[in-house]
Amino acid sequence: MKTIIEPFRIKSVEPIRFNTAEQRAVLLRKAHYNPFYLHSDDVMIDLLTDSGTSAMSSDQWAGIMHGDESYAGSPSFFRFEKTIRDITGMPFIIPTHQGRAAEKILFSIMGGEGKYVLSNTLFDTTRGNIEFSGAVGIDLVCEEGKHPTVAAPFKGNMDTAALIKEIERVGAGNVSVVVMTVTNNSGGGQPVSMHNIREVSSICKANGIPFFIDACRFAENSYFIKKREAGYESKSVEEIAQEMFSYADGCTISAKKDAFANIGGFLAVHNEELAAKCRNLLIITEGFPTYGGLAGRDLEAIAIGLREVLEEDYLQYRIRSMEYLTEKLVAAGVPVMLPAGGHAVYLDAKQFMDHIPVNQYPGQVLACELYVQGGIRACEIGSLMFGKYDIDGKLIPAQLELVRLAIPRRVYTQSHIDYVAEVIIEVFANRHAQKGMRIIEEPPMMRHFTVKMEKIG
Ligand code: F0G
Repeated sequence: MKTIIEPFRIKSVEPIRFNTAEQRAVLLRKAHYNPFYLHSDDVMIDLLTDSGTSAMSSDQWAGIMHGDESYAGSPSFFRFEKTIRDITGMPFIIPTHQGRAAEKILFSIMGGEGKYVLSNTLFDTTRGNIEFSGAVGIDLVCEEGKHPTVAAPFKGNMDTAALIKEIERVGAGNVSVVVMTVTNNSGGGQPVSMHNIREVSSICKANGIPFFIDACRFAENSYFIKKREAGYESKSVEEIAQEMFSYADGCTISAKKDAFANIGGFLAVHNEELAAKCRNLLIITEGFPTYGGLAGRDLEAIAIGLREVLEEDYLQYRIRSMEYLTEKLVAAGVPVMLPAGGHAVYLDAKQFMDHIPVNQYPGQVLACELYVQGGIRACEIGSLMFGKYDIDGKLIPAQLELVRLAIPRRVYTQSHIDYVAEVIIEVFANRHAQKGMRIIEEPPMMRHFTVKMEKIG
């Protein structure tokens, strides 16, 4: 088979500023060993997130000029609404400034003290909004999803037996919503099968519980279904996405991922009464219902991006890019999550830094070293992000210690990715020289964004 090439040409470029390992070591110390504090022009390859970092197409930029900025009834909104209705089959479309704003609105209505939200794995802002409302979020990812280096086709699936048990334990009336994250970002960007979505949906129906999809990466998930699930080989990605959404009562989406937009999100629902409640909150927090938290130009860019992301040449290239990097790392013996995820490659930091205990944050140590050695910015998804303390102040570690290399869409070329592999392999070879880290300052919630750390010893 020939190389799968990028299905686009480059029309506009941004310079990357090179710096040295010595300069980066100083910059990182000034950033308190937290890559979120780095200035992005000091980063050479920025894999912190695939969110809002996509390269927009020339059509999307043209859409930006077409955007109609009317306060009410903008044609840009109606194009946005029609596109989302076509894909999701949901009649009520509520634009927000990003995914977490949609979550905030949804869980302000559906969360609250005494309520439970069950999921395969909640993303951190989703969990944050649930907990902020007073509700409890519970992750029920399938067994395969808990073992980073064991390959399986749908490691994002929800454990349906555990779901039934949990509904019985807390009482169906107390489960305000079940949320399926596709692909399962915090669980390694792993897909969820249509079979699992259908099953979870029917368990929810039988118990009278609304079923929502956190659909930020719906197109990547749909493509995995096409490639991996029997019966979907000859369906179009759009048809698969439509079927996925057909099982849900609603969805929240960040348009900063699969919609290739730099900002934006939305909430889509079937229930008119719920939509009315959401719109009331939207008006006081985001904006009038035909723009929500967005400019007309953003609505255009999102509507166009949602169409482009369903193109199979693009998805083939996209998913292949993750496999390509994964294969290079596996060949060098680097412990990496298998199989490759949809939007990111996840290093298994527990195995990578096997000499550093979890309470010294091996994932953060690894993320920091990737920056010093190669100017690569990655993100810890482990005990720094998800760790909690017990009553004695002892760390309750996360299930997995991962470092995520999220690949922005349509931004980096194959030689950038070759360079990333070379740096990781070099850091792996010298890993035992690394020491653990401790926290010197942290906020009460979502600490990984603003935590300050230091090296031990
Ligand atoms: N849900 C999932 C699965 C996400 O990955 C994100 C964002 C959100 C919701 C929230 O969307 O950022 O538009 O408010 N994920 C980014 C990331 C930040 O880096 O994975 P948002």
